[in-house]
Amino acid sequence: MSNRVQLQPSGNEFEVSDGETILDAALEHGVSFPYGCQNGFCGVCKARIVSGEYEYQDKYNAQSLTEDELANNVVICCKAEARSDLVVEVHEVVGVEDIEVRTMPVKVSKIERLADDVIRLNLRQSEDESLQFLAGQYIEVILEGGHRRAFSIANAPHNSSEIELHLRLVSGGLFTPYVFNEMKEKEILRIEGPLGTFFLREDSDWDVVMVAGGTGFAPIKGMVEHMIELGMENPLKIYWGVRSEQDLYLNELATEWAATYENISYIPVLSDPGVIDQGWEGRTGFVHQAVVDDHSDLSAVDLYMAGPPIMVNAGKSAFNAIGLAEDHLYSDSFEVAGES
Ligand code: FES
Repeated sequence: MSNRVQLQPSGNEFEVSDGETILDAALEHGVSFPYGCQNGFCGVCKARIVSGEYEYQDKYNAQSLTEDELANNVVICCKAEARSDLVVEVHEVVGVEDIEVRTMPVKVSKIERLADDVIRLNLRQSEDESLQFLAGQYIEVILEGGHRRAFSIANAPHNSSEIELHLRLVSGGLFTPYVFNEMKEKEILRIEGPLGTFFLREDSDWDVVMVAGGTGFAPIKGMVEHMIELGMENPLKIYWGVRSEQDLYLNELATEWAATYENISYIPVLSDPGVIDQGWEGRTGFVHQAVVDDHSDLSAVDLYMAGPPIMVNAGKSAFNAIGLAEDHLYSDSFEVAGES
C-alpha cells in the first residue's frame, strides 16, 4: 500500500509506502526536502499538513515543535508516516542559501584505492547528524591546527548518510599522504559543509555538457547520479580529461551510464597518452578542445566544469567564444598542486 504526497507551493508529488516516513520517501524521489539529523531531533524537517491523515511510528524530540505548530498541524517529517494521501506545505531547498552549513564528526567507513594515486574515502555520519547538500557541493576536512582541506562530494544527496570523496595523492601534502599511508577505517574526522555554489540546476531542461579534469570527476559523478535518480532526461555529454588511461579511475562506471541511459554519452580524453596507452583508440588532446571540436554553438547548453584551474580557465574562454552564456557556465576549480 502506498499514499501520494503533494507538496505546496511547488506542486511536486511522490509516493510514500507504508512504514516509510514522509522525509524518506521525499529523498528517495529526489525531492529537495529540508532535513538535518533524520532522527527526530533537530526539527529542520518540519512541514505543515494541509490535508490528510498521518501518524508517528516513533518518538521525536518534543521540544522541536511549539504549541502553535502542533495546533497548526506542523509535523516532524523524518518521523511521521502518511495514513492517507497528503497535501504538505514545506519550504523546499532550491539553492545553497536554504541549507545550513554545519560542522560535524564523521567516521571513515571505507578506504578504497581506485588508482595508484586516487583513493575513494567513504565517510559515515552519526545517527543524530546528517548532511544535507546539493549534488556537486564540497566539504572541508578540519585538520589539527585548524588547517582545512576541501573535497567535492562524489555521491548524490539521496544517499546522504554516506559522503564519498575522491582524493588524489599530493606528495608532501598535509592530509593526503596520511590518508594513503596511515589512515584506518573507523577513524573519526571533523568536517564542515556543505559549501560552494557548484551544484546541479535541477529545473533546467537545456542540454547539459559536463567536463571533468582528473578528480574533478567527483562532483560530476554526484551530479550525474542525481540526474539519474531524478529521472532527468536532458541530453547529457560527459567529458573526462586525464593524462593517461590509467587515470580514468571510474571508467567502467561512466561507460555503464552511457550504455544504460539513452540521453547520456561519455567521452574520455587523454592529454598525454604514453607507451602504456598504445592500444588507446579514443580521443586525445585537451579536454576543452574536445568539447569545442564537437560543438559549433553552446548557446543553449548548461555547462558544468570541475578540475584544475588551468583546465577551467582554458575552458571558459574557449566555450564563451562559441556562445556559452556566462550564467549557464558553472565551474569548480581546485588546486591539485600544493599542499592537500
Ligand atoms: S528532526 Fe532532524 S531531520 Fe527531522
